[in-house]
Amino acid sequence: MSTVVYLNGQRVDYENAKISIEDRGFQFGDGLYEVVHVYNGRFFHLDRHLARLQKGAQEIYLDLDFGLDNLEKVCRVALRESGLKDASLYIQVTRGTAIRQHAFPHEVTCTWVVIVRESKGNPPDFYENGISCILVPDERWGRCNIKTVQLLANCIAKEKASRAGAYEAIFHRGGSVIEGSSSNVFIVKDNMMLTHPANKKILNGITRGIVLEIADQNNIEYSEEVFSIDDLLDADEVFLTGTTTEIMPVVKVDGKIIGDGIPGKLTKVMQEHYKKYIQTIDR
Ligand SMILES: Cc1ncc(COP(=O)(O)O)c(C=O)c1O
Repeated sequence: MSTVVYLNGQRVDYENAKISIEDRGFQFGDGLYEVVHVYNGRFFHLDRHLARLQKGAQEIYLDLDFGLDNLEKVCRVALRESGLKDASLYIQVTRGTAIRQHAFPHEVTCTWVVIVRESKGNPPDFYENGISCILVPDERWGRCNIKTVQLLANCIAKEKASRAGAYEAIFHRGGSVIEGSSSNVFIVKDNMMLTHPANKKILNGITRGIVLEIADQNNIEYSEEVFSIDDLLDADEVFLTGTTTEIMPVVKVDGKIIGDGIPGKLTKVMQEHYKKYIQTIDR
């Protein structure tokens, strides 16, 4: 049971997995990534993560020259070799190595990395009792729908949350709630779920999509619409979604208690549905 690393399609020891100082991912953040959850030895929607990677690549004019099928094969081999049951798969693709210049180089091949490692998961207490968040101004660029490795603004936001003793930082812009630093945000008001529309301002989370599908299948009302900071603070329930976050109840934002200060009824219903859904997915 160990961490398994593949670099450009070749298995390498973790310590010897090296990339060039001229790699554009290192110099410009010119790359994309995905994090995929593995439950009980099975990928949780590797298919959707690869589709999002492909879409992101098109957005940044990145030719996935190694082939998406090849990447999928390597992901599956790496997981098998790791022998891990509960794991996290990290995929990173950069535009590759070239002498530093802003314009995209012509003669270049992607650098691509696959890492499978044990997933510790969040403490059960977080899911049972909820967590707290802080609000931070969204100072990121205008293409947050692309899952690029340029995450400094997200890292600063998460650091602020951590220093405040909170689990997550929730971005706001112009009075509207956008998303978390590594999660999407849902609020519940009068049994209706609201979440930010999937436009350029947010990453359209795989988990977010699954929550909406579960809602469709169970006649749970929702709307993908912009809501305000006041709506967030006055909500009956708030929860976050994400690959590692899963469905996380939020009971406090900037010190203000949400609802009754305990995970909400609908949040718990969604957690139960999600738990069951996880067991059905192997792709
Ligand atoms: C900014 C941001 N929003 C939302 C999410 C949730 O996306 P997913 O459910 O695909 O993990 C992430 C996950 O990393 C993220 O970084």
